[in-house]
Amino acid sequence: MGEQKRIGILTSGGDCAGLNAIIRAVVNRAVGNYGWDVIGIKGATAGLMCDPPEIMPLRLHKVESLLTMGGTILGTTNKGDPFAFPMPDGNKIDRSQEIIDNYYKLGLDALIGIGGDGSLAILRRIAQQGKINLVGIPKTIDNDVSGTDMAIGFQTAVDIATESLDRLHFTAASHSRVMILEVMGRDAGHIALHAGIAGGAHIILIPEIPYKIESICNQIRDRQANGLNFSIVIVSEAVCTEEGTTIQKLQQFEQTRLGGIGQYLAEKIAMCSGAETRVTVLGHIQRGGIPSPSDRVLAGAFGVAAVDLIAAEKFDHLVVWRNRQVESVPISEAISQYRTVDLQDTLVKTARGLGICFGD
Ligand code: F6P
Repeated sequence: MGEQKRIGILTSGGDCAGLNAIIRAVVNRAVGNYGWDVIGIKGATAGLMCDPPEIMPLRLHKVESLLTMGGTILGTTNKGDPFAFPMPDGNKIDRSQEIIDNYYKLGLDALIGIGGDGSLAILRRIAQQGKINLVGIPKTIDNDVSGTDMAIGFQTAVDIATESLDRLHFTAASHSRVMILEVMGRDAGHIALHAGIAGGAHIILIPEIPYKIESICNQIRDRQANGLNFSIVIVSEAVCTEEGTTIQKLQQFEQTRLGGIGQYLAEKIAMCSGAETRVTVLGHIQRGGIPSPSDRVLAGAFGVAAVDLIAAEKFDHLVVWRNRQVESVPISEAISQYRTVDLQDTLVKTARGLGICFGD
């Protein structure tokens, strides 16, 4: 069975479907198979900034019902960088040492950090500074972590966006309208590309491919000329205006939130094509709820593999999914680059082959 270990686990960054399924998988493997202790850390690294640290011992019975539960029982945050932590007086201080001290006070042998590129970069910096044995698991609906074909949460977000397109089709066809669905994804167009193909969109707009309103309207007019009086557009939140400006919905807690490109396009398309247009902004619906079967499978694979990496003492690595295999890559490699849609991506070619317009 090997040496007894006590490992910590935390979820960091925006929530998504499948986080609890990972926690369950980690506990099943670590407690069930290796006989180790697993300590859940609450509120990402914030739990390790508290005195005493905010933790949740994770036993087998505690994770029994987590497979289908959305969100994360540990809580999470996508704010409060520990290296520049905002204090009530407005100052920002480096609190990384508190996290390191509490890791050792808890007697942890290793830490599993579940996060996107931003969280993984912060966790790695802390781990390097404090000689913490870190193993990472990629999660994000944006699917922008390098080195992995898939991050946890992405496939559920795609399923939700696809189902939304399926529903919008009926109203679009019944009312002869152009229906625009605005989806998340930050600077990467993966959700729009995948859901656009799966949901039969006629126009897919992603940040990686600049568009022209005229090209979009030509596609709509071509369809009208063929007796198809409706069109479905899916657009990523970070798509810019035709002039190249990003539309920001909100500035809060020193963070910029994207949103509004759907409405901008609706007005432009209506003016240019004369079509009646309507916008649906999917928002956080993409992050919540029950993980899809594929995300549950991936969560199981990642959770088991992460614990096995700790058993093998292969630290500073991220579990990844490539060609239907779980592998691992150095975390430094995964965070060195932001993974946007490659213009030579097979799905970009597929979409073009299907006659879907990118507006270019
Ligand atoms: O990174 C995940 C994500 O959902 C992005 O797609 C989106 O831009 C952002 O987080 C929204 O963040 P918040 O939940 O803070 O509004």
